[in-house]
Amino acid sequence: MDKLIIEGGVKLKGEVTVSGAKNAVLPILAATLLTDEPCLIKGVPNLRDTNSMLKILRSLGKFAEFDKGKVSIAAGKTSSYIAEYKLVSTMRASFCVLGPLLGKLKKAKVSLPGGCIIGVRPVDLHLKGMRALGAQISIDSGYVLAQATKLRGAYIYLGGVYGSSVLATDNVMMAAVLARGKTVIESAACEPEVVDLAEFLIKMGAKIKGHGTPVIEIEGVKYLQGAEHLIIPDRIEAGTLVLASLITGGDVLIKNVRYQHLGALIDKLQEAGANLERSDTALRVKGGRKLRSVNITTLPYPGFPTDMQAQMMSLMSVTPGISVITEKIYPDRFMHVAELNRMGAQIQREGPHAIVEGIKSLSGAPVMASDLRASAGLVLAGLAARGKTSVSRIYHLERGYEFIEKKLINLGAKVWREKE
Ligand code: UD1
Repeated sequence: MDKLIIEGGVKLKGEVTVSGAKNAVLPILAATLLTDEPCLIKGVPNLRDTNSMLKILRSLGKFAEFDKGKVSIAAGKTSSYIAEYKLVSTMRASFCVLGPLLGKLKKAKVSLPGGCIIGVRPVDLHLKGMRALGAQISIDSGYVLAQATKLRGAYIYLGGVYGSSVLATDNVMMAAVLARGKTVIESAACEPEVVDLAEFLIKMGAKIKGHGTPVIEIEGVKYLQGAEHLIIPDRIEAGTLVLASLITGGDVLIKNVRYQHLGALIDKLQEAGANLERSDTALRVKGGRKLRSVNITTLPYPGFPTDMQAQMMSLMSVTPGISVITEKIYPDRFMHVAELNRMGAQIQREGPHAIVEGIKSLSGAPVMASDLRASAGLVLAGLAARGKTSVSRIYHLERGYEFIEKKLINLGAKVWREKE
């Protein structure tokens, strides 16, 4: 296992380009199971999670090649309906092969993904959606078995205790595109990644309306064709780079940004007094201004993303004043609090809230990454800290940030990898 060593205190400067969105590419790759025709997906980030999804597609009979940001899926049938535990357990998003397998083959056996460090993460909404479309669902030996003689369009209320679900919306949408008749998904997730998946499905011949709103309407079609698609830029990577520039007092031009996908983050940063200059598809972030602390509450899109909570906490830990950070999607997603406190941060957790008292500076320390976005938060803290920080279990970061070390080094950061 590798750890990342960061010599903090360097102001990041230069230009960086955001990669394709992890959370868009994973369901879009799964959607290729819905057709026997070839597909070409462009702007694909080279991530551990992308490679995990490709392994799953291959295990289901697809011939998939990944080269220079492009995934080509050859013509050929989806020949297996079983997604095995050893593949699904590496990544929760692999559960989104359930919808396309059920839609295409009317049968799917997919390992339950299990919990993870950020919380329990059930799949009840996914199963509710599949049942509403007419599937029989049973759970046996850790697998979900879903089957139907035919799927029928239905009205499905998909809201849960924490609001809408991104992957459940993806999964139900992918099952419904080949169902007979009309499906209405109410309380659908509005995330840009759901919209990107819907756009890809439409290119394949699906009839979908309302994506990007809480009510998605799908008119089932008989078959889907192959399609070509360019993945949207990763808004979480973009947001993380914005904060990297701010926390180091740097001056960074971030390219390949969809400004409108970053609304909640930009609004909070403007409230904090950050200097952000927008151009067509880029964002220039100049640090150096004194920031004020702000409160944030994570919410489904277009609210403040839970996937930016850890990174924002790092910024607030060195911003004067008190900031209250409330987590409304995963109330236990606070593993990074103890690690930031090891670097001198003053953060107190109270249930789903973290109360952050901004201090002058953090000091480098050995810390441990617990999940993908917590790792990003710790890397930001390390970039700002005095002295050396080592972030263990850096494989978490590789799940979601393409070439992150290289990108940071190009911006002047002193970052390198060592064996644990
Ligand atoms: C997706 C993202 C992840 C992000 C999360 C929330 C992908 C691959 N991952 O995960 O990066 O952190 O959205 O924005 O896109 N829930 C239920 N029942 C279900 C499903 C979810 O109660 O059947 C709950 C979850 O426990 C959580 C909330 O709903 O509290 C939102 O989760 P969800 O949107 O489903 O997260 P993912 O789609 O797994």
